[in-house]
Amino acid sequence: MDLYEYQAKDLFAAHGVPVLPGRTAETADEAAAVAAELGTAVVVKAQVKTGGRGKAGGVKLAKTPEETKERAEAILGMDIKGHTVHRVLIAAASEIAEEYYFSFLLDRSNRTFLAMCSAEGGMEIEQLAVERPDALARVPVDAIAGVDKAKAAEIVAQGKIPAAVADEAADVIVKLWETFVSEDATLVEVNPLVRDPQDKVIALDGKVTLDENAGFRHPGHADLVDQRTEDPLEAKAKAKDLNYVKLDGEVGIIGNGAGLVMSTLDVVAYAGEKHGGVKPANFLDIGGGASAEVMAAGLDVILGDPAVKSVFVNVFGGITACDAVANGIVEALKILGDAATKPLVVRLDGNNVLEGRRILDEANHPLVTQVDTMDNAADRAAELAAAGV
Ligand SMILES: Nc1ncnc2c1ncn2[C@@H]1O[C@H](COP(=O)(O)OP(=O)(O)OP(=O)(O)O)[C@@H](O)[C@H]1O
Ligand SMILES: [Mg+2]
Repeated sequence: MDLYEYQAKDLFAAHGVPVLPGRTAETADEAAAVAAELGTAVVVKAQVKTGGRGKAGGVKLAKTPEETKERAEAILGMDIKGHTVHRVLIAAASEIAEEYYFSFLLDRSNRTFLAMCSAEGGMEIEQLAVERPDALARVPVDAIAGVDKAKAAEIVAQGKIPAAVADEAADVIVKLWETFVSEDATLVEVNPLVRDPQDKVIALDGKVTLDENAGFRHPGHADLVDQRTEDPLEAKAKAKDLNYVKLDGEVGIIGNGAGLVMSTLDVVAYAGEKHGGVKPANFLDIGGGASAEVMAAGLDVILGDPAVKSVFVNVFGGITACDAVANGIVEALKILGDAATKPLVVRLDGNNVLEGRRILDEANHPLVTQVDTMDNAADRAAELAAAGV
């Protein structure tokens, strides 16, 4: 789960990382009130979960509450890379002597954590990483050893942070590591990490990604979910513990096992090209034990998507055999009753496949078509979706 900048900074503050005071606002008047409360020059910052806000005009300085109101009026409602700005952060403005870049992230390819640090931070960091990769230090971090002051000093030196603030920057980095570990984050990024004219080191921006698999250890993290921007179907699926991701096509997909579902998306997208360009409508992995309840919950979510015109159920029987899955489908359709309205193409294979197919034949449900192979089933599902569009 990605956090908004203001949420990231709240976590930073809780772990002792220096940030400047600020509060969010959803209207221009509220923004002016926050500026008046702070009593300083402020920065009005669009709160959207995408990069490049500054370049898009979503970060603006304001010297007075009146100016804050004007800036907030301009930024609220703005579209930044497809994200509408519903909220701005009003943060005290900092004088900036230098801008640095710093991040901790999970480096999957090296099976470890990575610190990235550069004395040349700011809005051009992506360009820097491409054009002068040497200017961006990459320092592996051992998961067990972690980051103590000595390790932080090594990172700071490699990032070429000036000596005058090296010690303070190292302290901040130790606290960012504490944030990273104790919150179970997979990314903590500060760009810019600034040096002010008094040589204070402050996090002026913050990006944090939390590992949702560790959510059970952090009851408080659930409050960070923004209900307003979460897709309602994804929220419903999450409530039912389903691994569901909404996509923008017309063919609903249910499969067991993430690998099978991924390849089902590929074959449906490929088959769809012959049928007016229909595409998969979602990713849904119902896992190994495809019980009737899980099948019904999955179908319920998929059929709730108005864009879905047909559903492809692609199951390879393993520990849960095909007859159990077939019974699950039959039961699920009973549970759903009239709520099931779109054609289902079912492909069963694997353990006990003949019995599974027999059960579906016998049930003879008007919405269900069985197709023996994955490619042919994908083709049929795409054809039915194209006919329903
Ligand atoms: N509190 C602040 N005081 C003074 N200047 C600021 C403050 N916050 C941000 N800035 C300036 O605005 C620039 C952009 O802000 P910020 O880094 O928060 O957004 P961004 O990097 O453009 O957005 P994103 O991180 O989404 O790419 C900073 O590099 C900094 O120069
Ligand atoms: Mg930034």
